[in-house]
Amino acid sequence: MKNVVVFTGAGISAESGLGTFRDKGGLWDKYCIEDVATPNAFKNNPELVLEFYNIRRRQLLNSKPNDAHFALNKIKKKFNLFVITQNIDDLHERSGTKNTLHLHGKIMEARSTIDNQIYPINGSELNIGDCCNRGGQLRPNVVWFGEDVPNMNLAIKHVSTAFIFIIIGTSLNVYPAASLVNYAKKAKRIILIDKNPTLFTNVEVIKEKASIAVPLLVNDLLRL
Ligand code: APR
Repeated sequence: MKNVVVFTGAGISAESGLGTFRDKGGLWDKYCIEDVATPNAFKNNPELVLEFYNIRRRQLLNSKPNDAHFALNKIKKKFNLFVITQNIDDLHERSGTKNTLHLHGKIMEARSTIDNQIYPINGSELNIGDCCNRGGQLRPNVVWFGEDVPNMNLAIKHVSTAFIFIIIGTSLNVYPAASLVNYAKKAKRIILIDKNPTLFTNVEVIKEKASIAVPLLVNDLLRL
C-alpha cells in the first residue's frame, strides 16, 4: 500500500475548542512566548509556565476529537497512514490514530529536569514540588522555543515516502517543523487544508474548516 502522510497544526484542534496560536485572539495574543514557552521562562518563573500548561491541559480534558481527527483514520482502509503533528494535545490518539509522531511534545506527559525520564500526567495539574523518582522538578514534556526537535529526522523520513502529503491547520510559521513541506519530493499530490491558508505555490489549497474539508478529502482518496 502507498503512504499517506498527514502533517497537522493547531487548526485541526480548533473545532475541538483548543486555542490556536496566531489566529486573532490566539494564545500568542494573550501570552508572550518568552514568558511561557522557553527554557529561560521556566528558569525565571516556573509557576507561570506550569500554570500556562495547566490551563491548556484543563481545556484538553474538556475537549474531544472532532470529525477531522476521526476522518483521518479512514485513510487506513486503502493506504498506510502516518500522522505527524505539531500539536501537544492527544486528540489524534483519542480519535484512534496510533503512533502519532509529535514534533513539539505531549502536554499529558511530564519530563524530569534531572534525567529527562518521562512520566504520564494523570489529571490536569503539574506544579512546583511535583518531582521525579530522583527528586528532580518535573516540567511539561513539550519542546520549547530554542530547544531541539528530536523527532524531526523521523518525520522527514516519513514525508519523503509520501504518495500523498496532506497539511492541515498550520500557519507554517515555526521551523524546523514547517520545512517538512520541502521533503515531499515523491508526493503525487500535496494538499493544504486551512481556514485561512498561507499563500502557497504548487500545492492544492482547500480553504475550509478542517472538520468539513478533511472528511470530504478522505472520501475522495478512498474512491481513487
Ligand atoms: N480549520 C482549519 N484550519 C484552521 C482552523 C480550522 N477550524 N482554525 C484555524 N485554522 C488555521 C489558521 O488559519 C492557521 O493557519 O490553523 C493555523 C494555525 O496556525 P498557528 O496558530 O500558527 O498554529 P501552528 O501552525 O500549529 O503553530 C505551530 O507554533 O507556537 C508554536 O509550538 C507551537 O506547535 C505550535 C507551532
